[in-house]
Amino acid sequence: MCGIVGYTGPREAYPIIIKGLHRLEYRGYDSAGVALVNENDGLHVYKKKGRVADLEETLIGANLHSHIGIGHTRWATHGEPSDRNAHPHVSFSGEIAMIHNGIIENYAQIKKELLKKGYTFKSDTDTEVLVNFIDDIKQNNDCTLEEAVRIALRRVVGAYCILLVHKDDPETIIAARKGSPLVIGIGKGEHFLASDASPIIEYTKEVVYVNDYEIAIVKPDELVLKNLGNDKQTPFITKLNMDMAAIEKGGYDHFMLKEIFEQPNTIYDCLRGRLDAENGNIIMSGIQKYAEQIINAPRIIIIACGTSWHAGLVAEYIIEETCRIPVEVEYASEFRYRNPIVHKGDVIIAISQSGETADTLVAIEKAKEQGAIIVGIVNVVGSSIARTSHTGSYTHAGPEIGVASTKAFTAQLAVLTMIALKIGYEKGTLDKERYLYLCKELAAIPEKAELVLKLDDHIKEIALKYKDVPDFLYLGRGYNFPIALEGALKLKEISYIHAEGYPAAEMKHGPIALVTNTLPVVFVATKDAYHGKVVSNMQEIKARKGIVISIITEGDTASPPLSDDVIVLPAADEIVAPMLSVIPLQLLAYHIGVAKGYDVDKPRNLAKSVTVE
Ligand code: AGP
Ligand code: GLU
Repeated sequence: MCGIVGYTGPREAYPIIIKGLHRLEYRGYDSAGVALVNENDGLHVYKKKGRVADLEETLIGANLHSHIGIGHTRWATHGEPSDRNAHPHVSFSGEIAMIHNGIIENYAQIKKELLKKGYTFKSDTDTEVLVNFIDDIKQNNDCTLEEAVRIALRRVVGAYCILLVHKDDPETIIAARKGSPLVIGIGKGEHFLASDASPIIEYTKEVVYVNDYEIAIVKPDELVLKNLGNDKQTPFITKLNMDMAAIEKGGYDHFMLKEIFEQPNTIYDCLRGRLDAENGNIIMSGIQKYAEQIINAPRIIIIACGTSWHAGLVAEYIIEETCRIPVEVEYASEFRYRNPIVHKGDVIIAISQSGETADTLVAIEKAKEQGAIIVGIVNVVGSSIARTSHTGSYTHAGPEIGVASTKAFTAQLAVLTMIALKIGYEKGTLDKERYLYLCKELAAIPEKAELVLKLDDHIKEIALKYKDVPDFLYLGRGYNFPIALEGALKLKEISYIHAEGYPAAEMKHGPIALVTNTLPVVFVATKDAYHGKVVSNMQEIKARKGIVISIITEGDTASPPLSDDVIVLPAADEIVAPMLSVIPLQLLAYHIGVAKGYDVDKPRNLAKSVTVE
């Protein structure tokens, strides 16, 4: 995700664009740039790695006069953050500048064709491929920019919101979207374009939300909307009724809630272009490069911290089941100080949302020195852990602003599951039938996650019932044990209530002494091979008057009679179910934290990225 701003009208464009980019930095902030077209000397493009403020610094004294322009604050997906990968990207001919939010899945194929035609590229981005594809069509068909965009987008696979300007046209912005948002503000003799309404609302409250597969031709006093078939569409003008802060949070009260509700989309974005469930293909170029080494690894060591460590625990179960490779999961901080034994050929999977966690970074540097192969599963493109790894896979969850990790966690699980299925199938330890079945089960998760999110009101009721208790217990077995740990961590860090996660079977070895009629025990008890055992554990709690809150699978008739509160999830294979069963626990923690009046986006004592040891 990234921030996009455009303006065309009588005012100076640059001040409007740069202010709008500041408003949108929560959507991405690894690099920024602007393109301005002025009536005297054409196209000027300024762009730089870093924050919007860093770009501004460099523009003092620059030629910024223009009444039309586009601006971009980036969240890299293809090509690490750098000056040359920053947007806008200019086509080979120098005529067109373009900014883009999204991922062009078939950019590699299109790039190959353009290279054969003699095109060269200055960046590693998918965006630069698209702007050259559009320019190539325009040059070869001698057509308008609008027509070239329409022809190009019929071929493009992926998500995009693009804004384009032409060096010889100081008033028209061509815009198009599919899968990434675009809002157009209607002014008097001027138009504003942006990823959301936060850069627009101070100028006008009249906006048009552009739909997928629509192209907008925007001039100061004219807005024309068309579909890819070149048929005019009637712009539907709505009146904004949100304030700035609410717009940034997408209308949600907190970034954490917004990010919890983004999970169907972020899991889908994570799978996009990599999982082809229909044909049983998992395309992960980084993993493919090291497939041999992973398949033949004597063991896999997963290194991470906090929520990412919980993702590692889930991966341990999945990899050992599908790949039959021994897996150890290590806290990065413990691993690095233990003088660990690492053999050449060991594969280390480093999991990190930020890619900057000091303990994880140092731990993998030590393992790398000892000859291990480092596979990074990271959300922030070009981050330190990504750059230290030999290979890896990005989670494409977009910027996670809430300190408590939610959408990044489920994206980590999606990537780790794809890796396990791919390696298991190639290794021959996962038979074709189960492989194809699990690919389909994984592909179905985004839709099932939507269904789980519909339980939010019910989960909020449960949260309000227990918001004042001093302690919680979270229990689970197998794949559900790491989710129990994650649920406990979410509650601790958001509501400051003491909570512990435990393997359900461990209760009888001590913790059951804690059970009283004021202790809520959350059972992560979705259907799996252990379900009967977990039901017995519920009976043990009930027999001691404990409170049982159970997360179960539809059709489970054994758990409800033993539960004080029940949350029923759609059926899913146990390997992919953690991406669903964690969502109610995220919402439970969120609603309890809000009910207690805490700042759930910035909990006390916590930082989003722990870059200190
Ligand atoms: C998760 O909710 C926490 N904020 C924290 O445990 C986090 O998961 C941990 O610090 C690891 O961060 P990373 O994924 O960026 O490496
Ligand atoms: N895929 C493009 C890039 O990596 C756009 C990313 C974004 O949406 O910021 O540059």
